Amino acid sequence: MTTRRLVLTRSAAVVGAASTGLLLPQIARAQSGKVRVGFMLPYTGTYAQLGVAIENGVRMAIDEKGGKLGGREIEWFKVDDESEPAKGVENANRLVQRDKVDVIIGTVHSGVQMGIQKVARESGVLSIIPNAGVHAATRALCAPNVFRTSFTNSQPTLALGKPMFDRGVKKAVWITHKYAAGDEAFEGFRESFTKAGGTVVKELGLPFPQVEFQALLTEIASIKPDAVACFFAGAAAPKFIRDYAAAGLKGKIPLYGSGFLTEGVIEAAGPAAEGIVTTMHYSDSLDIPRNKQFRLAYAKMFRLQPDVYAVQGYDAGQLLVQGLAAVKGDLGNKQAISKAMESAVIDSPRGKWTMSKSHNPVQDMYLRVVEKGENKVIGVAAKALADSGAGCKMGA
Ligand code: BEZ
Repeated sequence: MTTRRLVLTRSAAVVGAASTGLLLPQIARAQSGKVRVGFMLPYTGTYAQLGVAIENGVRMAIDEKGGKLGGREIEWFKVDDESEPAKGVENANRLVQRDKVDVIIGTVHSGVQMGIQKVARESGVLSIIPNAGVHAATRALCAPNVFRTSFTNSQPTLALGKPMFDRGVKKAVWITHKYAAGDEAFEGFRESFTKAGGTVVKELGLPFPQVEFQALLTEIASIKPDAVACFFAGAAAPKFIRDYAAAGLKGKIPLYGSGFLTEGVIEAAGPAAEGIVTTMHYSDSLDIPRNKQFRLAYAKMFRLQPDVYAVQGYDAGQLLVQGLAAVKGDLGNKQAISKAMESAVIDSPRGKWTMSKSHNPVQDMYLRVVEKGENKVIGVAAKALADSGAGCKMGA
């Protein structure tokens, strides 16, 4: 059958069904009933705490606006993606094909995100990325139905190189979990640090989610760089911070990082975290009324302190609220949803931000130091930093 005939046959079926009152299930769902929202997040493993914080943030933002989206009730669905890239497509399809969700909110791990991206591009399902920074999602594989409320992996580290050099670091070692998040964070670090005049003398890594750091720390001690810069997140981060101190490196070789190193883990890392300098698009100590109000409300609602992951989830919820309000809950009006999300100004606890043409936040990067158990802001490392969006044809 030709494409044209197929289209005509389908349209005829829809008209026929509609005239007899038997709307196709998907069309019926797009016009009435509950909005089906699927969380695809890690609820077990190294990034479990991040998944919970994101879900909390999303729920809180929607709750604050009356608990509905575009005037419609919500039905929630959840899949634990275990930060397992090999199951990414299968898990995303569970939500899209089995649960018939209208929107996927996920995920944390860059490798798993590639599975969601494939399913989102093929199915057209609305997809909001509340953490994973994989470049491709808002670069070459960008899509009108995919939006990110977090960062690209190189955004925080693009702001890190210059402050390090300005603080006297000429030679640095880079260390990371070896997968897209760490490798792309390194791209940003190498670019900014070498541009400032520094030299990366060694690049070290270990596979995710391994945390046997000892041999690598011994190597760092023998290289004796001016400083170490790194990407570690979730449960791996406090372990790395503690092991770094236990290896005798704290106080001798300053530790810097993409801000995930000290997000949500300062208590677990203990005194070993004091003095670590990082760059990030959020800080618990950010002195703006929106942040103070958010932190109070979150602590009251969940009996937990929020971190950057909770903020990114909260902003995903705010974005969804704005997108569906613009169409009064009519999920069939995808173009209008996309347009509303593209032009949204998100009044975030991190400060106001907007979407780039490739659907990634344009946002400030803060320079922070851990002091008395909190990430204290000591400057703005980059103002309104946008990702390049290289290879994305949208808005061109
Ligand atoms: C990532 O895999 O993209 C990622 C995970 C945790 C924190 C930041 C980035």
